[in-house]
Amino acid sequence: MKALQIVKYGAIEDSLAFNEVNKPSIEASDVLIEVRAAAINPIDKSIILGNLQSLIPIPFPSTSAYDVSGIVVEKGAAVNNFEIGDLVYARVPQEQMGTIAEFVAVTAVAVSKKPGNISFEEAASIPLAGLTAMQSLEQAGIKENDKILIHAGSGGVGSLAIQYAKAKGAYVYTTTSTPNVAWVKALGADRVIDYKTEEYKTIVKAADIVFDTLGKNYTAEAFQVVKPGGKVVSVVGPIDEETAKAFGMADYKLPEELANLVSEKKASYKFIFMHPNGAHLETLKTLIEDEKIKPIIDKVYPFKESIAAFTQLASGRTKGKIVIKIG
Ligand SMILES: NC(=O)c1ccc[n+]([C@@H]2O[C@H](COP(=O)([O-])OP(=O)(O)OC[C@H]3O[C@@H](n4cnc5c(N)ncnc54)[C@H](OP(=O)(O)O)[C@@H]3O)[C@@H](O)[C@H]2O)c1
Repeated sequence: MKALQIVKYGAIEDSLAFNEVNKPSIEASDVLIEVRAAAINPIDKSIILGNLQSLIPIPFPSTSAYDVSGIVVEKGAAVNNFEIGDLVYARVPQEQMGTIAEFVAVTAVAVSKKPGNISFEEAASIPLAGLTAMQSLEQAGIKENDKILIHAGSGGVGSLAIQYAKAKGAYVYTTTSTPNVAWVKALGADRVIDYKTEEYKTIVKAADIVFDTLGKNYTAEAFQVVKPGGKVVSVVGPIDEETAKAFGMADYKLPEELANLVSEKKASYKFIFMHPNGAHLETLKTLIEDEKIKPIIDKVYPFKESIAAFTQLASGRTKGKIVIKIG
């Protein structure tokens, strides 16, 4: 079968190649998905560039990407919740990475039936970003009438986080640049802050939750706008101590400046590593079928133009998601 593979670390154009590889074989707990569409995320780019070598080392060659939608064409002996012919979507686990290919083997616990009211391309755009949004906001304990700031509302994660937060009944502030203001507002955000012309720190006051999708100075600044006792969740900022311990970094300490901000505000700070989860995708499926969440796609690329898709992703200006049509 054909697959887009990472052949070495480095610049996107130098490190990706279309290779002919063996169709994956399945374990008892796996399904084999005939891929209809894959989606790409910033982590895929970081892996190619070699920026995550110590955290996520990969053998070469490795097929790229984690997001998939497609059709179940084989199932392992221990799989009893999927049948051959089921239309599914998933964020595949690290050890099964490789969705820009004609087939991918995936543990059934990471898979969900695909929402019935959207295309394969739309379904592929959801798993990684949608699970990140959902798991981050649930970690923060989001509830009705919470005031929440979601940074980068036009990004893959932000565009789904806005819709998830609105489905939960929260009041949503979000940041984006001028060309994106109108369509981000249409996603349901209550107050879209144009970071080109407005200063979010003077607009957002005493938020219950800040969802930091930008890192850098934005992580510390979250403590200027969160309420005393509020919650800051980040998918880009420094790892928190509890998460570090779970990853075996027993002596890790939160950077001092951040630790001081957390204690001054009596707030909480949590770094989220999203994780594959078929049951969570079932919840997102329901929200999509109930039209509470709609996929946002910037561009669909044909398989043979996958490398150009990564070049667009690397611009950091994506509106929603970039998808690759395979089948
Ligand atoms: N920890 C985890 O498990 C996890 C999971 C998923 C993602 N992430 C990380 O989360 C980040 C976001 O992911 P993503 O998929 O949403 O990225 P993305 O789709 O590539 O984000 C692009 C968007 O970011 C917006 N943006 C850039 N700078 C901004 C700023 N200063 N203020 C407001 N918006 C800004 C851009 O809008 P404009 O063009 O208008 O600036 C663009 O629409 C990435 O760093 C990713 O690696 C972490």
